[in-house]
Amino acid sequence: MDKDAKIYVAGHRGLVGSALVRRLEREGYKNLIRKTSVELDLRDQAATRAFFASERPEYVLNAAAKVGGIHANSAYPADFIYDNLIMEANIINESWRTGVKKLLFLGSSCIYPRMARQPIRESALLTGELEPTNEPYAIAKIAGVKLCESYNRQYGTNFISVMPTNLYGPGDNYDLENSHVMPAMIRKFHEAKKDRAPFVTLWGTGSPRREFLYVDDMADACVFLMARHDGSRMVNIGTGTDVTIRELAETVKRIIGYEGKIAWDSSKPDGTPQKLLDVSLLRGMGWRHSVELEEGIRKAYGELEGA
Ligand SMILES: NC(=O)c1ccc[n+]([C@@H]2O[C@H](COP(=O)([O-])OP(=O)(O)OC[C@H]3O[C@@H](n4cnc5c(N)ncnc54)[C@H](OP(=O)(O)O)[C@@H]3O)[C@@H](O)[C@H]2O)c1
Repeated sequence: MDKDAKIYVAGHRGLVGSALVRRLEREGYKNLIRKTSVELDLRDQAATRAFFASERPEYVLNAAAKVGGIHANSAYPADFIYDNLIMEANIINESWRTGVKKLLFLGSSCIYPRMARQPIRESALLTGELEPTNEPYAIAKIAGVKLCESYNRQYGTNFISVMPTNLYGPGDNYDLENSHVMPAMIRKFHEAKKDRAPFVTLWGTGSPRREFLYVDDMADACVFLMARHDGSRMVNIGTGTDVTIRELAETVKRIIGYEGKIAWDSSKPDGTPQKLLDVSLLRGMGWRHSVELEEGIRKAYGELEGA
């Protein structure tokens, strides 16, 4: 991408979108197009069509999506499947219609089967049953990967798909109703410390294993792949290392300086037992993360405390 290329970062106010904008601006990309969901509702086909026809972006980074944790996914399955399907279909179709040179589609590690062999290789896609708690969201994301693949095959486009692991960092959603595990934990320990609460209750048993990537590393990997990767072969993005939720909780507790106890509410769902991506494809291309978990949690907590 030339430094003056016209790049549309869809969802630029979100966790991933804002990291992409920070990364691109730092590299000197000046011609970025941003639209909030109020200015452009990507579920609206006519509005999306008019936007692409008038702006004519050369590159598209699609970080717009309806995203949430286990609770939001279970409570609003229709919104998660419909919004994500329609947004990605509109963006991908209009990108093809207006001759976008390259598009990056963001999937998620939840597209892989619940019992996939660990670490999960890209080839595990569609080889088994999905985790029921977020199946509608995962199905929408799988459709996004298949849209990119199909447009590449039929129309010769260059739409690439990446599958990031769990992300966290500046701009995360700390709302306990619909946040992911890491920001929810940071918020709970932070509030318990402030209120001098004797214990913090966390969902599940603490035994599932999860992998976490600092979002600025994720943005770095996306820019790297925009430059070095073409075609339909999707690429996992992660650190290649996981921790149990219990270990994560102990680390967050220590960093925040909360001195009470942790209570595990095992009546709440754990989700998939383990989710660790095989990142050998990306490593083989020469990319590796740079922010380790502790450093990343410190940075993320610093931002929440400063807010
Ligand atoms: N967070 C993670 O751990 C994680 C992990 C793996 C993959 N991902 C993927 O990364 C992508 C972005 O996730 P995120 O965590 O950055 O989500 P996020 O913080 O919730 O941001 C989502 C963005 O999408 C935009 N959006 C939502 N509905 C829209 C609509 N109808 N029209 C236009 N824009 C709309 C929002 O725009 P406004 O702010 O203007 O409303 C928001 O900026 C998703 O595809 C997700 O699957 C995330």
